[in-house]
Amino acid sequence: MTKSAKHWNSADIRQTFLDFFRSRDHRILPSAPMVIKNDPSLMFTNAGMNQFKDIFLGNRQEDYPRIANAQKCLRVSGKHNDLEEVGHDGFHHTMFEMLGNWSFGDYFKKEAVDLAWELLTGTYGIDPGRIYATVYEGNESDGVEWDKDTHVCWHAHIDKDHILKGGKKDNFWEMGETGPCGPCSEIHVDIRPEAGRKQKDGSKLVNTGHPGVLEIWNLVFIQYNRREDGSLEPLPRKHVDTGLGFERLCMVLQGKSSDYDTDLFRTLIEEVERISNLDYGKEAAIDTAMRVVADHLRALAFSVADGQLPSNTGAGYVVRRILRRAVRYGYTFLGLKEPFMHKLVPVLAESMGEAYPGILKQEKNIGRVIVEEEKSFLKTLENGIRMLDELITDARAHGEKSIDGRSAFTLYDTYGFPFDLTRLILKEEGMSVSEEEFAAGMKKQKQRSKKDAAVTTGDWTVLDRSKEVEFTGYDTLSNQAMILMYRKVEKRGR
Ligand code: SER
Repeated sequence: MTKSAKHWNSADIRQTFLDFFRSRDHRILPSAPMVIKNDPSLMFTNAGMNQFKDIFLGNRQEDYPRIANAQKCLRVSGKHNDLEEVGHDGFHHTMFEMLGNWSFGDYFKKEAVDLAWELLTGTYGIDPGRIYATVYEGNESDGVEWDKDTHVCWHAHIDKDHILKGGKKDNFWEMGETGPCGPCSEIHVDIRPEAGRKQKDGSKLVNTGHPGVLEIWNLVFIQYNRREDGSLEPLPRKHVDTGLGFERLCMVLQGKSSDYDTDLFRTLIEEVERISNLDYGKEAAIDTAMRVVADHLRALAFSVADGQLPSNTGAGYVVRRILRRAVRYGYTFLGLKEPFMHKLVPVLAESMGEAYPGILKQEKNIGRVIVEEEKSFLKTLENGIRMLDELITDARAHGEKSIDGRSAFTLYDTYGFPFDLTRLILKEEGMSVSEEEFAAGMKKQKQRSKKDAAVTTGDWTVLDRSKEVEFTGYDTLSNQAMILMYRKVEKRGR
């Protein structure tokens, strides 16, 4: 993949990114917490730009015009949710690191493209012939024109047939339903062996989900605020927000075809192999389960380190669901009937502790929280299996070969017993369940929870932009303040 024969380990790759941008006048900031406490529109950091949202919107003045960092992100809720895809391929994750560079009203499209090009092909040595870029085709109803400027910037580096136009889904980036947004330009790398490349042109595989041609970097040109009524409001200044997928970059530079084969995940997978006494790379279902376990362990450890414990509501419930998904995969496909996730924590602390000292410092605490959660969910699984046995016996006594979907739904909804496990156990018993009845229960529940947990965030009304905000909480417990801006946040059922 790369022209140079240098062996890149993940720590080098991260450091090289930061050094590159430091030497181009960027201030390097630490990662913001992954758990967000003060933004009702987000539970977790889902992109490096979250912590700069108010700078983009003009509500806060930046300290530095150019910034870069490595940001821990979690995409498991809201607009960006990859949870159910994790495990089934080699490059989706719940928790991942996003390497990013930002310009607040400073450089724009040309410099963003030039910097990305120089880093990827010059510093990291990726073969330029394997790179494809996409640009926004525009959208009439939003009043946004096709991004000719970025096309010109790319054409200075690559042939026209390596620059593709894309629609709103891939080439217009939005943080959530509202907030800063703009056209974006993705960078894709063709990592297929030569033979495959000769057979089919890489440009035909961009954004098709093909594992051999995948997006690694997204350069977003933040120019608008998506308002609550769906309209785009142009921002007073233009900004750059980029996100380079660290795990995928490691995969490309280490010449692997899956993120899980890089040094970021290898030690975790090896520990799962050891605990389960099974081998990775021999059977698809086992591989999926090991990827789920390795991925979810990282998400859990980083969430707990950030102070988010598993619970029954909000962000805590998301964390609980991640743990349950991992335990469930371990239980069913790896034969792990005793708590096992916590045993992986020391391996993670060893591999990520240097870059994220919080993981090292909280190693014991993270292990304790995870083992307690595991124990309680394993009990749920045992109870569910007992209840399901009773349903099967009862159905058989009535000469039936299926159980009704409503009971399966109750098992899932009231007792937390996963539906795919119900399905699997029934199949092993030569029985089935009505999928339609289960789906009907699910649909009703979704409507209920949407209604209950909806959060609507209004647009900011700015009363006074001229005043500085000063934090006086270290010296005094009460003070007089003036409202400089406000917005309406409606929260229900949390
Ligand atoms: N915000 C963009 C993304 O998440 C680039 O950082 O893809």
